[in-house]
Amino acid sequence: MCGIVGYIGDKEVLPILIDGLKRLEYRGYDSAGVAILGEDLKVVKTQGRIKALEERLKDEDLKGNLGVGHTRWATHGAPNNVNAHPHYSESKNIVVVHNGIIENYLELKKMLVKEGHDFRSETDTEVIAYLIEEFYEGDLLEAVKKAYEMLEGSYAIAVMSKDQKDCFVVVRKDSPLIVGLGKGENFIASDIPAILTYTREIIILENGDIVKITKDDVSVWDANGNSVKRPVQQVQWNVEDAKKGGFKHFMLKEIFDEPTVIKEAMRGRIKNGSFEIPELEQISVDYLKNIRQIFFVACGTAYHAGVVGKYLAEKYLKLPVQVEVASEFRYRDPMIDGRTLLFVISQSGETTDTLAALRLGKKKGAKTIGIVNVVGSSVAREVDNVVYVHAGPEIAVASTKAYVAQVEVVALVLLYFAKKLGLLSVENEKALVSEFFALPEKAQAILDRSNEIAEFASTTKTIEETFYIGRNLDYALSLEGALKLKEISYVHAEGYPAGELKHGPLALVTPQSLIIAIDTYAPLRKKTLSNIKEVKARQGRVLAIATKGYSEIEEVADKTFYVPQTIDDLSPVISVIPLQLIAYYIAESRGLDIDKPRNLAKSVTVE
Ligand code: F6R
Repeated sequence: MCGIVGYIGDKEVLPILIDGLKRLEYRGYDSAGVAILGEDLKVVKTQGRIKALEERLKDEDLKGNLGVGHTRWATHGAPNNVNAHPHYSESKNIVVVHNGIIENYLELKKMLVKEGHDFRSETDTEVIAYLIEEFYEGDLLEAVKKAYEMLEGSYAIAVMSKDQKDCFVVVRKDSPLIVGLGKGENFIASDIPAILTYTREIIILENGDIVKITKDDVSVWDANGNSVKRPVQQVQWNVEDAKKGGFKHFMLKEIFDEPTVIKEAMRGRIKNGSFEIPELEQISVDYLKNIRQIFFVACGTAYHAGVVGKYLAEKYLKLPVQVEVASEFRYRDPMIDGRTLLFVISQSGETTDTLAALRLGKKKGAKTIGIVNVVGSSVAREVDNVVYVHAGPEIAVASTKAYVAQVEVVALVLLYFAKKLGLLSVENEKALVSEFFALPEKAQAILDRSNEIAEFASTTKTIEETFYIGRNLDYALSLEGALKLKEISYVHAEGYPAGELKHGPLALVTPQSLIIAIDTYAPLRKKTLSNIKEVKARQGRVLAIATKGYSEIEEVADKTFYVPQTIDDLSPVISVIPLQLIAYYIAESRGLDIDKPRNLAKSVTVE
């Protein structure tokens, strides 16, 4: 996720771009840059936040009425000055900014290198600029259209040419992009807040749209090349609301981002109906056969993604698996050797304990794989192999969309290894692949009923404590559900194996207790149902999260929220959503500071 802003008109463009970038900084902030077409086509960019760019610009005299800016959240290539956007074409006649991922960039890059082109950066973006230049014969729009036909993936791009001082061209495919309309001036942006100071009239582009923008005109062609008119909308939000996409908090926005996050996390990882993890291609079957044990190590929410990993790795790879909290692991003397595979999971990639655990594992000879969100972070740099989850920046302290992406990517990696080892039948792979593709829609179906959860949450004011119970993967989810609730609502919550409740905690259950029973794991459904009955016998209040069609549960639980049917092993990706929503709405009904809960920080870089 990156932020794009652009302007064409009569005003000086630089202040407009800087102002827009500042408002888009929540979309990415590891580097930033601008390209301005004045006398010349000039790019200034730097690693770091917009502030660093402003410092850098003090030494430049950038004047012009047409320009684009970019704030980056790295996906391909470390966050540094060279990889920062905008990117020039080889001759520096074309400039591109880009948000998203070009899936086939390596193929395209190889082709262009073969033809004798020399690249400057590690990004997928530069390939776009070079490709457009290949096709450029004096008409930028035509060149972009031709390049567009060759690009696979999800992206939004804005392109300028040194020879065309009266326009820029933008493309929107799966990544967001809007056009803002002014009088004798027009704007583009990844998101509304960037341009809200200047205009409230916007066009939300459709997937596949290619648009030529001059100061007086906006011409749109759809994915089939037909000239189309898109409706102009009036924005009612204020700037602060707009930053959160109109949601009251970043946390809620990030939960609602999850259908897209699920799509992005699997992008390029399922090819021709089969699991492929290009980042792990070089791990050989011989190496995999030689592994004797697997560890998942992480903290907090990332640790809970590791608990899911444990269940899946045991099932699909038939190996002993341990999942460990990093702060414990680092001070033990774990039995690790060269035949150990160590997964390290981290959203930020900077968590001190996780880093220390990784270093210990490496020292003892384990092979390490990082499941990481922040590109170029310490964990990403230090592991032997990194698989990015592509969740985009997570602003709310409580992790939501990163968890969904972590669980999904862990599953994809394990299934890929199982396939390599011949442990995944063709029919099983086929069924899993088609279910992966169905997950975004199923996640959306849950979000579409978020009001049911909000209503239930509004009835929980007197609840003093909460138990989350489940078995197998539902138990893994119960841990994450409980953590979310305690973090942001300050209600005491515990995740417990459903079968373990009667070995102690049942003594605490009273009419003031809320029990959230997760019962989606089909093989153990009936067993969890019996545990729910035990709770009901003690007058505890039960909210059940169950799979659609399992109506028996309604007779026992006080309220049932149904999640769509999916393959059991993929259920955590979507079944966590109602748990995140319940935590959110309970905290909201108590009027708490949801995005910045007391005593907590987003990145824990202390012990
Ligand atoms: C919970 C939460 C924390 C983090 C933990 C690890 O919502 O955000 O528990 O999951 O601090 O952080 P990362 O994943 O950055 O290593």
